[in-house]
Amino acid sequence: MAAKQLHTSILVWLMTLSSLGPNHVPLCTAQVQSFVYSGFQGANITLDGSAQVQPSGLLQLTNSSDIIGYGFHQTPLPFRGGGGTVRSFSLSFVFAVQSEFDKESSGGMAFFVAPGRNFTGALPGSFLGLFNASTNGSPDNHIFLVELDTFRNGEFKDIDSNHVGIDVNGLISIQAHTAGFYDDNTGSFTNLSLNSGDPMQLWVEYDAQTTQVASTLAPLGAHKPRTPLFTTTTNLSGVLKDPSFVGFSGSSGSLSTLYSVLGWSFGLDGTAPPINITNLPKLPRAHQEVRSKVLEIVLPISTATFIAAMGITIFLLVRRHRRYAELREDWEVEFGPHRFSYKDLYHATEGFKNKNLLGAGGFGKVYKGVLPVSKLEVAVKKVSHESRQGMKEFITEVVSIGRLRHRYLVQLLGYCRRKDELILVYEYMPNGSLDKYLHYEDDKHTLDWAQRFVIVKGIACGLLYLHEKWEKIVIHRDIKASNVLLDGEMNGRLGDFGLARLYDHGTDLQTTHVVGTMGYLAPELLRSGKASPLTDVFAFGTFLLEVACGQRPIKQDSEGKQIMLVDWVLEHWHNETLLQTVDTRLQGGYDKEEASMVLKLGLLCLHPLPTARPSMKKVMEYLDGETVLPELAPTHINNFNMVSMMESRGFHPSILSYPELSTSIGTFSGLSGGR
Ligand SMILES: *[C@@H]1O[C@H](CO)[C@@H](O)[C@H](O)[C@H]1NC(C)=O
Ligand SMILES: *[C@@H]1O[C@H](CO)[C@@H](O)[C@H](O)[C@H]1NC(C)=O
Ligand SMILES: *[C@@H]1O[C@H](CO)[C@@H](O)[C@H](O)[C@H]1NC(C)=O
Ligand SMILES: *[C@@H]1O[C@H](CO)[C@@H](O)[C@H](O)[C@H]1NC(C)=O
Ligand SMILES: *[C@@H]1O[C@H](CO)[C@@H](O)[C@H](O)[C@H]1NC(C)=O
Ligand SMILES: *[C@@H]1O[C@H](CO)[C@@H](O)[C@H](O)[C@H]1NC(C)=O
Ligand SMILES: *[C@@H]1O[C@H](CO)[C@@H](O)[C@H](O)[C@H]1NC(C)=O
Repeated sequence: MAAKQLHTSILVWLMTLSSLGPNHVPLCTAQVQSFVYSGFQGANITLDGSAQVQPSGLLQLTNSSDIIGYGFHQTPLPFRGGGGTVRSFSLSFVFAVQSEFDKESSGGMAFFVAPGRNFTGALPGSFLGLFNASTNGSPDNHIFLVELDTFRNGEFKDIDSNHVGIDVNGLISIQAHTAGFYDDNTGSFTNLSLNSGDPMQLWVEYDAQTTQVASTLAPLGAHKPRTPLFTTTTNLSGVLKDPSFVGFSGSSGSLSTLYSVLGWSFGLDGTAPPINITNLPKLPRAHQEVRSKVLEIVLPISTATFIAAMGITIFLLVRRHRRYAELREDWEVEFGPHRFSYKDLYHATEGFKNKNLLGAGGFGKVYKGVLPVSKLEVAVKKVSHESRQGMKEFITEVVSIGRLRHRYLVQLLGYCRRKDELILVYEYMPNGSLDKYLHYEDDKHTLDWAQRFVIVKGIACGLLYLHEKWEKIVIHRDIKASNVLLDGEMNGRLGDFGLARLYDHGTDLQTTHVVGTMGYLAPELLRSGKASPLTDVFAFGTFLLEVACGQRPIKQDSEGKQIMLVDWVLEHWHNETLLQTVDTRLQGGYDKEEASMVLKLGLLCLHPLPTARPSMKKVMEYLDGETVLPELAPTHINNFNMVSMMESRGFHPSILSYPELSTSIGTFSGLSGGR
């Protein structure tokens, strides 16, 4: 069922001229060129990256997280007609986005027109596999794209996490609209969720006369709505090269999302041919049809039923046993009271349903749950862990930490263990993690200065407790805004302490296994791999700057180059414009002395020499105003270029440009050398 048809009707005499190249095509020779694919089996499609054509004919662009897939029409198309202006074109395609979770899926897919097929250097996730931070927005791209975006990225001024956008040369849309359609009769708008997993059809038409682009969306099977979803104007004559390739890119971020194309049609100078939807391939998780023929063979069935019933009973018993199976070892007996049964946690989270998912990160997923008997709200973190090495030591530490109780720490309630899986149960924090508030684009959600100062002091207090006031020293190892959670009263509370240690028992002896998050890692930690209270102080310094400036630890300068937030703040200090680094969303509404102190203290904590950093006790004194911060000159803290240092350690620079995608309760970030 190779469902490819290719119509190319060219005026006869044009063929004799074709060797002159497209620029010489005279004005009057309209060349109609179109194709339609109803399924891609045997189709002449060039694949790249993770894209594959399934035996069913489905063009699947991605199949797991953090990857990019491309599918192109094999030959480039002559986009420019006589006079050199870009010709009208029209296209339609049927697609589906199947997200592992019902939530935001941190990536997207796009139809695009581009001069080439080599996207080396482009990034996955929000960059859609077409751009990176330095190429985004450049007029040298010559790319037109229609984005189906399932992640709201403030950097690209996205309107929401479910939209269709028309973009030229970059990811900031010329215009975008929430996915959906307008009813033909009533004119009312119905939302469609792009990552619902249901196939949908999109039509896009570019009119060369008016330079208008119309986009129309509908569920598969519905006829094309008369009113487009939106129209916008952009003269592509200044954009597209001739010839250009047409194709799709799909790119998932940290969560695994399947982006698929089921059918595609395209037409230059005319309407794209209709896609015959009866022939389209099936999606992988399509519902199976129930066969009714069984009624015809009642007798053999009745005997089979008996056997089947027996089988099912055994199966259910085994499954029940397996579902709740846990791993217990002798040494764990003494930790009994801190152990939760898997069955309770399974019921608390309704079987770890996606709707209860609070967040996901490199090391595991976090679910909200309600414990069956006590009705206590908890956050349940599933951490996958293959090696059993160090597990006993780790559990011992977890349990001892579980006895830690402090106003500014998220209480660890207990744990459970299964094969390859460790489950930790924490107090539930209703207001989520701090990074969401700091990096929200809209001002409504941002925190005022007083709130920020209270949070900073709370975290310093919690960290001081871990370092100095508990019976032994606990090093946090992963202090960052996404590990700071906000309780009902908007107090900051530190989560995930000591957990990074589990991943410190690196089995890989060749490269030091560094755990932590880029931008928060102290230079000596990168060199030796050894964490200490002073590496925590370093991370706390980055945290101070992040809160005061409302910027991520690694930011982009006006030329799109990556720079460390610390270097940027230092530069302002040198130029005596330190307060210009304070978050502009505060609109000047902050205590100048406090802000200046917080920024300078942050820089002091970020001193490249560990011994020059203050202890948490000193930090607390400065924050409380008990001790005045010593007069420092900007030159006291030498500028050091962390980016180049990390690169020389074998960290791939592209890792640096990932926006932090962690969403909620204590998401981990992990990083290992030599990737
Ligand atoms: C696929 O496209 C290539 C390049 O244009 C062409 O040489 C080849 O004949 C095409 N194959 C089919 C089956 O259409
Ligand atoms: C994803 O696709 C790639 C490339 O075709 C393949 O090598 C890999 O095995 C696939 N992974 C999964 C999980 O299907
Ligand atoms: C793509 O471009 C890069 C340089 O930007 C080059 O190294 C690579 O070989 C090219 N790949 C192909 C398949 O042409
Ligand atoms: C961005 O992509 C371009 C071209 O693909 C490449 O030359 C450049 O090195 C990339 N930049 C980064 C920072 O990855
Ligand atoms: C449609 O989506 C918009 C934006 O996400 C939202 O504000 C609106 O409430 C949604 N409407 C319905 C009916 O779901
Ligand atoms: C679009 O731009 C081209 C030149 O880049 C110009 O010739 C043409 O008139 C423009 N079209 C419209 C409708 O402005
Ligand atoms: C669509 O395909 C089906 C099955 O191949 C065929 O019976 C039907 O006539 C086609 N419809 C159109 C409009 O071509």
